[in-house]
Amino acid sequence: MREINASIPFDKRMWRQDLRGSQAHVTMLGAQGIVAAEDAAAIHAGLGEVAADFEAEGVPEDLALEDIHMLAESRLAQKIGATAGRLHTARSRNDQVATDFRLWVRDAIDQAEAALGALQDALLARAEEHADSVMPGFTHLQVAQPVTLGHHLMAYFEMIGRDRSRFTDARARLNLCPLGSAALAGTGFNLDREATAKALGFDGPTRNSLDSVSDRDFAIEYLTAASQTALHLSRLAEEFVIWASQPFGFVSLSDQWSTGSSIMPQKRNPDAAELVRGHSGRITGALVSLMITMKGLPLAYSKDMQDDKPPVFEAHDLLGLSIAAMTGMVESATFRLERMRAAAEAGFSTATDLADWLVREGGIPFREAHHITGRAVAMAEQAGIRLDQLSITQLKEIDSRIDERVYGVLSVDASVSSRTSFGGTSPKRVREAIAAARKSRQEEGR
Ligand code: ARG
Repeated sequence: MREINASIPFDKRMWRQDLRGSQAHVTMLGAQGIVAAEDAAAIHAGLGEVAADFEAEGVPEDLALEDIHMLAESRLAQKIGATAGRLHTARSRNDQVATDFRLWVRDAIDQAEAALGALQDALLARAEEHADSVMPGFTHLQVAQPVTLGHHLMAYFEMIGRDRSRFTDARARLNLCPLGSAALAGTGFNLDREATAKALGFDGPTRNSLDSVSDRDFAIEYLTAASQTALHLSRLAEEFVIWASQPFGFVSLSDQWSTGSSIMPQKRNPDAAELVRGHSGRITGALVSLMITMKGLPLAYSKDMQDDKPPVFEAHDLLGLSIAAMTGMVESATFRLERMRAAAEAGFSTATDLADWLVREGGIPFREAHHITGRAVAMAEQAGIRLDQLSITQLKEIDSRIDERVYGVLSVDASVSSRTSFGGTSPKRVREAIAAARKSRQEEGR
């Protein structure tokens, strides 16, 4: 029973939040005259001593004391004696744990948010450096149209920005204080719930005591945001794995963010990227785990809910590592621009530009232009040359309406520069996007 019942092995991670919550609670009890002022002061001071002990020695895993809440109270009793027993007035472990966990998840959100901001800055810096570096853009992992590396990196800047906003949204909904809901029904003591909420940095008290002690949707929302973030990181990691492979050779990873092989001396493996990809599976697993824990529980608290913490702690740790690793890789990678350009030039990636030119200059319907271009691609493919290496005689053979001006659109640089629609890949647009992103990052800093 002791082993299945105890949560101290993992919930000791919340000791700071637990002591902070208790200090806010006892301060309020004192102010309301529920506990005598000198007792409240003694408890407050005692909790400070317990905190100093935990800070210095760590939190002991005493299974007999079950969880961090009981452990902290018993430590307090060792310090100040029987007065410690007054701390739990008008409180239950149910509103206590709900409060602690909200505080913990709120900190986790703030950490994720800040780390993602740093990743965005890394992406921005590299995008700026490569605003006009040409690379192939892919669909189906087939060369489609040339793009710029800066544009590609800024795509991830956008994704990470949305991830951050999901954390921010979750934080806003989370930020109400359950303390004072007691076991489930509220309490008859004359509490000041506004005061404890304020002391703990919440926007106010939660509105329904049953809901307060029995929902963990704030943790699920955190895990949802974490899973979506991990999914984006996994996609970026996958790009690095592909780009770092020899046949692609688009990137060489720094020594710092790659590993050697124990047997093949030539190897430089993208282990960190692979682990970011792998960790996203575990983070999503944590989300699924908590949703399934919660889905069959009637109101109010059930002990199943103690299982809410391990998945959240695990996801937080894995996400922190994944963001840091991805940031490091982005910052330190060497992009092999000549390889990227050669790949962009090799795949008839400007075929759409030829078709568009026929539409624009020849007044030809797009469908027909598409057919004509298809014949040009086939001819170039057969001759083993690029589209812009076809002679004007060859091009005219395919369609007499083609003239020399077409060469102005067939190079990858011309193609990229022409994509000037808002959000497009032209270096001019990419620089504008970077400038706007920088501005909004600066505004956040204020
Ligand atoms: N360790 C428990 C948890 O994490 C604390 C709440 C215990 N409440 C109870 N009614 N047994 O959920």
